[in-house]
Amino acid sequence: MRITDTSDLWWKNAVLYCLDVETFMDWDGDGRGDFGGLAHRLDYLSDLGVTCLWLMPFFPTPDRDDGYDIMDFYGIDKRLGHIGDLVEVIRSAKDRGMRVIADLVVNHTSDRHPWFQAARSSPDSPYRDFYVWSDEIPKDAPETVFPGEEKGVWSFDEKAGQYYLHRFYKHQPDLNTANPKVREEIAKVLGYWLQLGLSGFRVDAVPFFLETTEGMLPEGPDAGHSYLRDLRSFVGRRQGDAILLGEVNLKFKDQLAYFGGPDGDELSMQFDFESMQRFYLSLVREDARPLARTLARRPKLALQSQWANFVRNHDELTLDKLTEVERREVFDALGPEPRMQVYDRGIVRRLPTMLDGDPRRIRMAYSLLFSLPGTPVLFYGEEIGMGENLDAGGRQAVRTPMQWTDAKNGGFSTARPSALPNPVVADGFGPDHINVNQQRHDPDSLLSFIQLLIRRYRASAEIGWGDLSILEQPHASVLAHRVTGPLGSMIALHNFSPNALTVPLTVDGVDAETRLVDLLQEGETRTDDRGRAELDLEGYGYRWLRILDPGTRRLS
Ligand code: NOJ
Repeated sequence: MRITDTSDLWWKNAVLYCLDVETFMDWDGDGRGDFGGLAHRLDYLSDLGVTCLWLMPFFPTPDRDDGYDIMDFYGIDKRLGHIGDLVEVIRSAKDRGMRVIADLVVNHTSDRHPWFQAARSSPDSPYRDFYVWSDEIPKDAPETVFPGEEKGVWSFDEKAGQYYLHRFYKHQPDLNTANPKVREEIAKVLGYWLQLGLSGFRVDAVPFFLETTEGMLPEGPDAGHSYLRDLRSFVGRRQGDAILLGEVNLKFKDQLAYFGGPDGDELSMQFDFESMQRFYLSLVREDARPLARTLARRPKLALQSQWANFVRNHDELTLDKLTEVERREVFDALGPEPRMQVYDRGIVRRLPTMLDGDPRRIRMAYSLLFSLPGTPVLFYGEEIGMGENLDAGGRQAVRTPMQWTDAKNGGFSTARPSALPNPVVADGFGPDHINVNQQRHDPDSLLSFIQLLIRRYRASAEIGWGDLSILEQPHASVLAHRVTGPLGSMIALHNFSPNALTVPLTVDGVDAETRLVDLLQEGETRTDDRGRAELDLEGYGYRWLRILDPGTRRLS
């Protein structure tokens, strides 16, 4: 895929905000968030500086996996409103310069989807081959994604008289993505939502449906990627600048193939799970080197491909890419109680509680998120420092209602608390202490800080577009990185330890005095004529420094 015009690559420096309509804002007072509520909060999101909303699944669902179990790909769950309400949200977001993407879950359906109901009813059903069946459990069956909740990935269906494949819950039978008829249906679904105004999709569980495709077709490994290329080119034909943001929790070297390698003709973006996990290891060790080493080996991508950076999402904080010993270290420091852990690999807490609410460390973490090359993705409530409610159980702990005010239910809903999808956060991170209303007029609040980071990120095109280099300096606790793009270059410093220190740096390519202008505070430092400078950093401190010629007229 040769790109000649870069003006359409909006995702390269977007600010994504993930939310579940069900837990964001309830406007009709029934206890469930709804599209009416979201519509009333679009001004808040655009004030924050968000440029693209990612809506978690809103389709009709039995809701046994938070909507990732879909019964009808063309509808809206009626608890959330009407399809017309969604169209209003898309239009009003667009008026405010925000795009909307949604989850595309095509690895599986709910077992209550009419396709599965038809498929299980008879071997002769035209829908039988929409799913993957077997007379016996295959010997090389993979492990379940949800150990402790599911026993395996094959379950027997009495009515069908055969086993069916489900990589996730038993009630989520996997679609047979090798079947051309299934592909036709998936294409129709994509076309439908693009036509309604979506700007793309967050594609759920990509490696899983690629594996199914490969397993069912004789071409082997390329069958999956060839399907992903087909999907991307279909989306491109329907709407040139629509994106596929893939959930691919694999090692860098394997992720590269999902971008379509140097051609960049598969996924437009992928979450960087590797750096996210090493970031937590660095936090715990107060040692920036695990993260620095990971970032240094991040593959370089095609111009149109992009990393999506994140600190937390709606699932467990997975630590599956760490060694057993490293994982233990993070568990012990950030999620020591059994109820804070799931699936032997993850923690079901949000960042601020894991850091005991320490504002210095929380701010350092978000400063880093917004300064790393790529596109930042926030999960709702991160901007105000929400915590979790472990009583909600497992992954639900971080899916509690958004905290708007200190009123009943955090201002999320006027319904009785038992009608809410999840209980609001109850402890020191609950609405009494943490809410939007209180923070929006306080220039020192986390919300104001995140707003500033977003403004600076959006004004620093090099972060989204530039190349990364890790700078040499003597402190193990400091990450010093530089991003250089066609329009500018900046350095960011982050201190993972509580000790204040001075960072000696040499700015490459400088042969005269150069200005290093602070972007998050007032002030600047001059290098000497060989690019050398000494920069002070507080305990858990962070600085963004724009590299400018002394004679420039650019506003920093
Ligand atoms: C990944 C989603 O992020 C997760 O929440 C869900 O349970 C699984 N896919 C299954 O759809």
